[in-house]
Amino acid sequence: MLKKPKFYLTTPIYYTNGLPHIGHTYTTVVADTIRRYKRMRGYEVVMTTGTDEHGVNVERAAKKAGMAESEFVARMAAAWRALWDELGLSADEFVRTTDLRHVRTVQWLFRLCRENGYVYKGQYTGQYCIFDNAFVNDAKPGDNCPDCGRPTETITEENYFFKLSAFQKPLLDFYKKNPDFIQPETRRNEIVSFVEGGLKDLSITRTTIRWGIPVPGEEPHVFYVWFDALTAYLSAVGGPEFERRGMWPADLHLVGKDIIRFHSVYWPAFLMAAMQPVPKQVWAHGWFLMDAAKMSKSKGNVVLPRPIANMLGMDALRYFLLREVVFGQDGNFSYDALVTRYNSDLANGLGNLASRTAALIEKNFGGKIPKPGPLLSPDVALAEGASSAIGEVLGRYDTLDFARALECIWSVIAFADKYLTTEQPWALGNSEEEQSRKATVLWTTAELLRIVTVLAHAVLPASTEKVWTLLGLPGSVAAVELDGLRWGQLTPGKQLGPAQTLFPRVDKSEAIERIEAMANEELNPAPGAPPAKPASSPTSGGAGVAAQAAPEKIGIEDFAKVEMRVGQIKSAERIVGADKLLKLTVDIGTEIRQICAGIAQYYEPEKLIGRKVAVVVNLAPRKLRGVESNGMIIAASVGPEGRPVLAGFPDEDVEVGARLK
Ligand code: MSP
Repeated sequence: MLKKPKFYLTTPIYYTNGLPHIGHTYTTVVADTIRRYKRMRGYEVVMTTGTDEHGVNVERAAKKAGMAESEFVARMAAAWRALWDELGLSADEFVRTTDLRHVRTVQWLFRLCRENGYVYKGQYTGQYCIFDNAFVNDAKPGDNCPDCGRPTETITEENYFFKLSAFQKPLLDFYKKNPDFIQPETRRNEIVSFVEGGLKDLSITRTTIRWGIPVPGEEPHVFYVWFDALTAYLSAVGGPEFERRGMWPADLHLVGKDIIRFHSVYWPAFLMAAMQPVPKQVWAHGWFLMDAAKMSKSKGNVVLPRPIANMLGMDALRYFLLREVVFGQDGNFSYDALVTRYNSDLANGLGNLASRTAALIEKNFGGKIPKPGPLLSPDVALAEGASSAIGEVLGRYDTLDFARALECIWSVIAFADKYLTTEQPWALGNSEEEQSRKATVLWTTAELLRIVTVLAHAVLPASTEKVWTLLGLPGSVAAVELDGLRWGQLTPGKQLGPAQTLFPRVDKSEAIERIEAMANEELNPAPGAPPAKPASSPTSGGAGVAAQAAPEKIGIEDFAKVEMRVGQIKSAERIVGADKLLKLTVDIGTEIRQICAGIAQYYEPEKLIGRKVAVVVNLAPRKLRGVESNGMIIAASVGPEGRPVLAGFPDEDVEVGARLK
């Protein structure tokens, strides 16, 4: 038997001072989709992800959480891993930069670079951004980091330097010989002109950091974060003994646009210096933005994957991420667009076509796939449409153009919907001729559904397996070889499988409110509340880790953390598209705050003006249906439907801003 071709792909290894949001989930979803696709194309695939655990940020976060660094990163790595498992995104290799296999690989790579004359010792003074773990080139004291906008620090230290300057020509030659190495094209052009502009040597060790991989025999030098981090891709598949596993060089590194330079300049240069094989391709995708800004917890605009997966299913999130934005470009994330796509493309599109087809076959043919009779032109047109989609979709997947691959699959689904509506198999009678026509139409639809299911599997792994079962097809859709997929392979006479719940339609406002409520709970766990599922998952940095150990009863000091004040409502209005929410402005004594409250079904906005209410004023700001809410109004939750009743001060004329204790 012929050996399968190999395909090795990676996501970045993620920093352990936070937990995954939709941006990280995006890269991992893309990697998982490519992995599934390549397997269906006959490749032996390894996908690596992992955690980047060294550096000053981790030292600080561990200190804040009152833990040793090793314990802190172990918990965080476990939480990342658990979340990926929960979301069905577990990689084949999960590499941690504190793994022994990785430590050995970094030290080995350094030794080779040094032996080959590309490493020397020198003094370095520069402005350093501790948040991005990087010296900021050309920055002067007092300058802020151009990436994150935070102040830089002046640092002088003895470093080992890597002779990056020696690689200008080798890199430019390499890019020329391998025009697809950097994708997309625009990024390639940026990198080529950056390298053409000249390369400065790079400091690759630190003495100011304690938490890092030691440079053997050169303590207190530890490796600088990028020399350490990038090497993880190699550590994951054998390190110095990579030849045994046969996966290196990587076929594809998937990265965000912010880290393309490290991957397409430093990384090949390190490997060239060590005389080791360099990766074949680096693909940079854009960012998912929330209201045109990068997500951050302090801005209160972080989108978390778990609440979405809980509400709509992980397949819905995967579909949205890949369908909404052309891979490579930036895109805006909105719950509105997510749920709209869910209802229109998944519930009404694929889900409806599958259940409709199965129900018609059940009713007319006792649940057995019918044998088609003579074909008419609409049947032929459908068959041709589906057949040509196979080639087009595979071509789109090959160039990572997921949005267009899905667009093409969904145009076939729309075609089938139209076909059913025109052919109306339900309106046909029981004469032999009409039965035969019915059989042709339903076989054709079922065959189209089979093809669509195979083509969409890499993006919708769970729900396509359900459609596969529903169609009574043998084995798993994942085992289908895409190269052998043709129109006409559906065998008549087979019994359909059991009914499946695919994508139940959801009420948009309700779905969004539930997702937001779950996300708020995960981001701001109530003191003493059990941690969000899974039990080992802290929700963020130190605070989340600490929350896990919180006892069931809280001390007065915990209660004192919640600052509640008397507020007075100044204005109130409904929010378009959110039935339950009111947007309020509330005077809290020191300022006027905008606060959203879920009371719209029980309180008339006009009647609230002037009313005094109890307000939690020190809650982190958050967005509800896209509207910023800066605080929370306290209400009792009454009866089985949880009717909100505002807490208030009817007996006494209390002063606005007075603290509740
Ligand atoms: N640890 C480094 C990578 C080392 S790889 C050898 C790192 N980690 S990270 O956790 O900060 O970011 C990992 C990836 O997530 C980056 O590719 C980054 O572009 C991506 N994203 C972070 N926020 C994002 C969005 N909002 N949207 C899309 N991806 C973004 O950098």
